[in-house]
Amino acid sequence: MSLNEFTYPYDLPNNYKGPGSPIVKPGDESKPIPLTFTPITIKSLTLKNRLVVSPMCQYSSHNGEANDWHLSHYSSYAKGGASLVIFEAAAVQPEGRISYADLGIWSDEFIAPLKRCVDLVHRLGSTAGIQLAHAGRKASSIPPFLEGARNSIPSDQPNGWEVFGPSEIKFNDNMSLPHEMTKEQIKETIEAFKQGALRLLKAGFDMIEIHNAHGYIGNQFISPVSNQRTDEYGGSFENRIRFLLETITEIRSVWPTEKVLAVRLTCDEWLEDGSGWTMNDTIELVKILDTMDVDIIDCSSGGNSTKQKIKVEPLYQVPFADSVKKHTKNLFVATVGLINTGNEIEDILQQNKADIVMLARPFLRNPHFVYQVAKELNQTINYQIQYERGRE
Ligand SMILES: Cc1cc2nc3c(=O)[nH]c(=O)nc-3n(C[C@H](O)[C@H](O)[C@H](O)COP(=O)(O)O)c2cc1C
Repeated sequence: MSLNEFTYPYDLPNNYKGPGSPIVKPGDESKPIPLTFTPITIKSLTLKNRLVVSPMCQYSSHNGEANDWHLSHYSSYAKGGASLVIFEAAAVQPEGRISYADLGIWSDEFIAPLKRCVDLVHRLGSTAGIQLAHAGRKASSIPPFLEGARNSIPSDQPNGWEVFGPSEIKFNDNMSLPHEMTKEQIKETIEAFKQGALRLLKAGFDMIEIHNAHGYIGNQFISPVSNQRTDEYGGSFENRIRFLLETITEIRSVWPTEKVLAVRLTCDEWLEDGSGWTMNDTIELVKILDTMDVDIIDCSSGGNSTKQKIKVEPLYQVPFADSVKKHTKNLFVATVGLINTGNEIEDILQQNKADIVMLARPFLRNPHFVYQVAKELNQTINYQIQYERGRE
């Protein structure tokens, strides 16, 4: 699917490369294009700019299926010129949903509704990614914008179910006590990630991101806060990262090597006594991922402990990306979190602290955030053609 397959009653101009693509005006050939609007190619994925929609749960699915909300939501970012639209966390098993309204990828029935969204994103000139996720001990909770937000729904209530995690440790007192996963359940969950990846391939996605952050299951396994197992999936660093490494290997057995695979990491759990997962652990992990068939590390933080003390301020997670960039030879690096202006984005890229910038809330506030960044950086870009007159 490409731009010109859109059914307009005319052909698109030859030089129209879709919203968010830089335009070099006659006479401006020697003017440098900001890195923000300089394309980047990662394997088979070419991004027309560095502005990527960060995954955002929509809590809008009936039994895991994508619907018209997802179609309108994700296509709005494609029209707004984002180079890559990463769809929200999609649960690989029903019990891995953080809430009953999550998107899912545990059934073949979900392929066609997702493909409909992916095809539209492609036809509007963007690319599509998605997160593969399992909420583990955080599953079965109330969506964040409803009454009782984030509390667990007990398994004997409608829309609630039994939850599972690496160890029998609650996230907090408002959430369910997880059952410690048996080794068989661990294998089943890893297999579910693989089957999910196969379905996403059929749905036409360009990239997959494994959600190993914010206290989701991979994060639960790598952290001593939530993993106190005594078998080969707990204890030492090597044992705690086993779940993630096996998940990557299984996904890669079906997700072709030319297709991009990202891992979102909680780089640091923000525990003052250093008892959780730390940036030093992240660096050790990155050295291993550097030798595997992983393409992007998406640097986030927190979300696995109620004792976290996050220093929330603009660009607060950029140092994590910067540090990962300094310790990798092969991986592309994404940064995210309280990045709000074009100048901030351009500085991050100019200082080589990240290769791509993911944004969540700025795109919620303004799905055409890319147009705003272009104005701020004084770079002419293509608008969605019907929106051209909004330029001035
Ligand atoms: C509504 C909403 C839903 C989110 N859902 C997800 C998600 O599905 N997966 C994820 O890794 N992060 C999720 N996040 C976190 C964002 O991807 C992002 O990392 C965070 O909001 C910081 O970026 P920002 O300051 O640009 O919003 C969500 C954030 C918001 C606001």
